[in-house]
Amino acid sequence: MDAHLMEFISLLLRWLHVIAGIAWIGSSFYFVWLDNSLGAPAAGSDNAKKGVAGELWAVHGGGFYNPQKYAVAPASLPEKLHWFKWEAYTTWLSGTALLVVVYWLRAGTMMIDPTIATLSGAQAVGIGAASMVGAWLIYDGLCRSPIGRNDTWVGGIVFGLLTLLAWGLGQMLSGRAAYIHVGTAIGTIMVANVFFVIIPGQKKMVEAMRAGQAPDPIYGQRGKQRSVHNNYFTLPVLFIMISNHYASTYAHKHAWAVLVLISAAAVSIRHFFNRRHKGVIEWRYPVIGALLLGVVAWWTAPRILPLPKVNGPVTFDQVRAIMGQRCATCHAPTPTFAGIPQAPAGVVLHTPEAIAASAQRIYQQVVVTRIMPLGNITQMTDYERAVVAAWIADGAKIK
Ligand code: HEC
Repeated sequence: MDAHLMEFISLLLRWLHVIAGIAWIGSSFYFVWLDNSLGAPAAGSDNAKKGVAGELWAVHGGGFYNPQKYAVAPASLPEKLHWFKWEAYTTWLSGTALLVVVYWLRAGTMMIDPTIATLSGAQAVGIGAASMVGAWLIYDGLCRSPIGRNDTWVGGIVFGLLTLLAWGLGQMLSGRAAYIHVGTAIGTIMVANVFFVIIPGQKKMVEAMRAGQAPDPIYGQRGKQRSVHNNYFTLPVLFIMISNHYASTYAHKHAWAVLVLISAAAVSIRHFFNRRHKGVIEWRYPVIGALLLGVVAWWTAPRILPLPKVNGPVTFDQVRAIMGQRCATCHAPTPTFAGIPQAPAGVVLHTPEAIAASAQRIYQQVVVTRIMPLGNITQMTDYERAVVAAWIADGAKIK
């Protein structure tokens, strides 16, 4: 397909994905806050008599709101009942389409790193797809098993399994692709929770009530459990969505462990807020989160691996030749590398001025993180990296 068209489709999908994600996570954060903030109505009050278990008052956008939650359900259902599901489905559909366009259709550059594993494109995509389906099947089985009744156990085991997934994908896919596929696996679990458990359960409850029967509380309990899990999944998934901007994380030697630490910090911080909505302030949770993030900051700080010694003074001509040979197939106004429609990240390296203008970014990518050339597809040598480093250390002069 026309490269520009693909690029534009990816733009639209990413935009939609962010919009739907905000709508979904925004409403789910709101309901978690609401649920945790409710207070019981006064004993003997009208609300208590009609079965309200919790209520609160809020002011927003110039109006006063008084949401009420029923113990199981009100005596009769109103005609119009609002459901929240399309936010979740749209987030997954747009996210999966984006995954296909950005990663699966360009598996050669985006998913495979020959220094990690030599895979074919089909194998890489197969691993990615299997991780999404497999994660859901295992997680769902766990929740339905007898262990599923113990929230602490489920939480611990799910965290352990996702750690295993991050580690396993890291042995097969490029760092970036491994991260995004941990994210899509968790995202799939979250949406499948809505699609296969929460919404069908709610439908059963509504059906029972419309038929004049009391709804079975098991559906409410199951839905609640999955919804609590989704709540703790949110922050790690959001980090993974933005992680592709931070090579210091996904290109780290132990990228999977960095992801696990960041996720643990996120869960701890989320837990603080969940407790705080209930009026319980437990500072140890954000403190643990901050400590873990501190460890990550220290651990991901660039430690420049030793480079070979450069013979004699470096000239710009040497650097220009290296850029021409190793980078310009992708980083030119019209790249010749298949599947790269225009200069990635807007970085062009075809003229002396353009190279000099990007000197600091080149240093980051080529000397510090060494993620460029992507997957070292153009086989840049360590000696060439040393030449680039020496040129930049000498002021990145082009004359
Ligand atoms: C196979 C194609 C390819 C080759 C070859 C390549 N790059 Fe890149 N480069 C990319 C892609 C794709 C991105 C965008 C990555 C992203 O989206 O974060 C990128 C991003 C960059 C960035 C911007 C990173 C940032 O966000 O600041 C720099 C700088 C860069 N490359 C430098 C180089 C240099 C220097 C070389 C040669 C030594 C090189 N690249 C070779 C594909 C390539």
